[in-house]
This record gives sequence, structure tokens and C-alpha cells, in this order.
Amino acid sequence: MENPFYITGIVPEPYFCDRDKETAWIVRTLENKAHILLTSPRRMGKTQLIRHVFEQPSIKDKCYTFYVDIYPTTSLHELVLFLSKEIYSILVPKGKAALCKFMAGLRSLAGSLGYDPVTDTPRFDIKLGDIHAPELTLEEIFAYLEDAGRPCIFAIDEFQQIAYYPEKNVEALLRSHIQKMNNCLFIYAGSNRHILENMFNSAAKPFYNSAEQIYLDRIPREVYTRFAEDQFMQAGKKISHEAASYAYDIFEGHTYYVHNVLHNAFACYSPEKTIEKEDIEKTLKEILEEKGHTFASVMNQLNYQQKETLVAIAKDGKASGVTSVAFVRKHALKSPSSVQYAIGALLDKQLLTYENEGKTKVYSLADRFFEKWINITY
Ligand SMILES: Nc1ncnc2c1ncn2[C@@H]1O[C@H](COP(=O)(O)OP(=O)(O)OP(=O)(O)O)[C@@H](O)[C@H]1O
Ligand SMILES: [Mg+2]
Repeated sequence: MENPFYITGIVPEPYFCDRDKETAWIVRTLENKAHILLTSPRRMGKTQLIRHVFEQPSIKDKCYTFYVDIYPTTSLHELVLFLSKEIYSILVPKGKAALCKFMAGLRSLAGSLGYDPVTDTPRFDIKLGDIHAPELTLEEIFAYLEDAGRPCIFAIDEFQQIAYYPEKNVEALLRSHIQKMNNCLFIYAGSNRHILENMFNSAAKPFYNSAEQIYLDRIPREVYTRFAEDQFMQAGKKISHEAASYAYDIFEGHTYYVHNVLHNAFACYSPEKTIEKEDIEKTLKEILEEKGHTFASVMNQLNYQQKETLVAIAKDGKASGVTSVAFVRKHALKSPSSVQYAIGALLDKQLLTYENEGKTKVYSLADRFFEKWINITY
């Protein structure tokens, strides 16, 4: 039996939960020809939402939709490779004419494009080293999108990555192209709210004021729990309302984590049994045990100060004033400066994340299973 709680890949439509308002807002905003900035904490559901928007008939039937996750990229060369590869893969099933048009436009790569004699079409086998003039290739990509024959929507996920590229002018370069386009709208998405909002909200930055902004929060409790109960019922299984609500509350509705617990609960229990709160507790315990080995080895690679700081923040759940004497005393840490130092390293390792609340930074663990594991282990 298929597990309705997808925790990897694209969630198929019947198993996609809610996001009605956000979907309608994004579709409407795109129809009004505005670009979009979509932010949320990690694993709240940005990527799934973008995929879901692309499935809406008013988008799907009229537009070419593209999606790239540029998290792995660290240079303009790679960005160019990722963008062109995505366009290629979307156009392959659209047929030879569309494909040939795109490839013919990539003049700067002409010498490196392959050819498939069987299908009689150009083949995309560009390697990073083939991209000698990324700025030129980028221009060709945008020129194609402008003239693709259909309106285009290009989602660029983890867009904050471009801020880390060594080439200094990438933001200005992208913006200057995008500004001139009439046929392609962009959805910029990412979880590093701080960097992204800085990119779009500071008057001195190229992307200033160039997109409508939406912040994706948790799915409302009632909506999610009803969805969860329905999914069990449709599969001939049963979960109590209390148990579904409990799963939601453990992670304050943080989508991926709640979904993961329900995925496992669904897999573990037979149709005869009604899943209750205790069963959810047991499922979570099993997940943490399974992940324990990985978490232990992460801990193993931290120095003592980093460890005690991570544990202190995990114990608080959400920790503010972390370099105050009060925080240091409460958790018996070494000193405010050692905490400061450790936090820098823990952010670099992406074990911590933070939200700005006014002028204070509120820290929490990036992985909520890790947070729970630390709480029972330390
Ligand atoms: N609307 C939804 N319906 C069903 N499951 C969802 C939904 N949104 C998110 N999920 C679940 O949460 C997981 C994470 O979602 P997604 O990858 O979209 O988050 P994200 O915000 O893009 O995360 P990241 O910051 O890591 O890129 C999905 O794999 C899925 O299990
Ligand atoms: Mg994502």
C-alpha cells in the first residue's frame, strides 16, 4: 500500500496538503506579471509549494515552467550550467523544434554540444569546463526565455547562493537582464531569510523592490490534522484526532518533521489498530534511535565549546540573548565570548539557524530531530 505521507521527492497531488491561500496568491501575482520572493524556515514546504503552483491548470496549460535548486552552486559558471540544463530537460519531451530552437541560441557553447543521430536532435552534454564565457551564455539563455513561444516561469530555489559567488557583479548582472524581460517571471526562493530580505529590501541592492514577497509559515493545525486523519481513513487505517494533533504539536506544525512521524506511524501499524498518542511517542523514539548514530557522529566532530553551546540551545528550543551572562550562567557555559565563537562555527556547519526578532537573534537547531535527540541524550 502506498504511504500517503511523502517525505522524499515530489509529493503527488492527492497527497499534497492545503496551501490553498498561498497557491492562489502566487498564481494571482504571476498573472499580474510580478516576480516573487518566497521565503520560509527550512523544510516548511517551499519546494513542494512551487511544484504545486506549477501543476495549477492556469499555469501548466499556458506556460513553460522551470525549476532549479542552486544550493550546490558556488560560481556563475555553475549557475549557467544549471539553468541551461533545466531548460534542456524541460524541452526534451516538448519535441525537436523547441529543443533545436533553444540549442541554436546557445552560440557560445556551439562547439561543445553533442548530437544524437538516433533522435536527430542536439544533445546537452556540456561540462563546466565548456563554459568559457558565462556572461555571454547567460545572455543567450535569457534571450531564449524571452522568445520561447510561451510565457515562462523560472523558479530558482536557494537563490541566496548567488550572494556567495566569487564573481562580484552577479546580482547586478542578473537583475539587469531580468528587468528587460517581458516573457519570463521568476520565483526566487530560499530559507536564508536574512540574506534574501537584505537582497530585496535594501535600496542599494540591485534586486531592491523587484519582487512581491511571501513568507511561508506552518500549515494551520486544524487543516493539517484533518488532512492527516483523512489520509489514514482513505487508506483504510485509523489515527485518533488526539494523536494527529499531538504529532503536529511536537514540532509546532513544522511540516517535514510532522510528516515524517506520520509517515513512519502509517508504515508501522496495521489497519486494525487505531493509532493513539502513545504510538506517536513510540514512533518518534524509533526515528530518533535510527538517526542516533548520525547525530552521535556529528557531535563527535564538534569541540567541547561547540557541543555545550549546541546542547544549551537545544535545551531552550528557541534561545535568545545567547551571549548574555544570564544564558551563560543558566547553562553553565564557559563565557559569553566562547559562546559567540562557537555559534559562528555552528552556523557555518548549518547546525544552527536563527530568526531576527527585532534586534535580537533567536537561535534554534536547524534539524528538529537533532534537537529532540540532544534533549534525551544530554
Ligand atoms: N503541502 C504539503 N503537503 C504534503 N507534504 C508537504 C507539504 N509541504 C511540505 N511537505 C513535506 O515536507 C517536506 C519538506 O518540504 P519542502 O522540501 O518543500 O521544504 P523546503 O521549505 O523546500 O525545505 P528546504 O529549506 O530544505 O529546501 C516534503 O518532503 C514533504 O514531506
Ligand atoms: Mg526546498
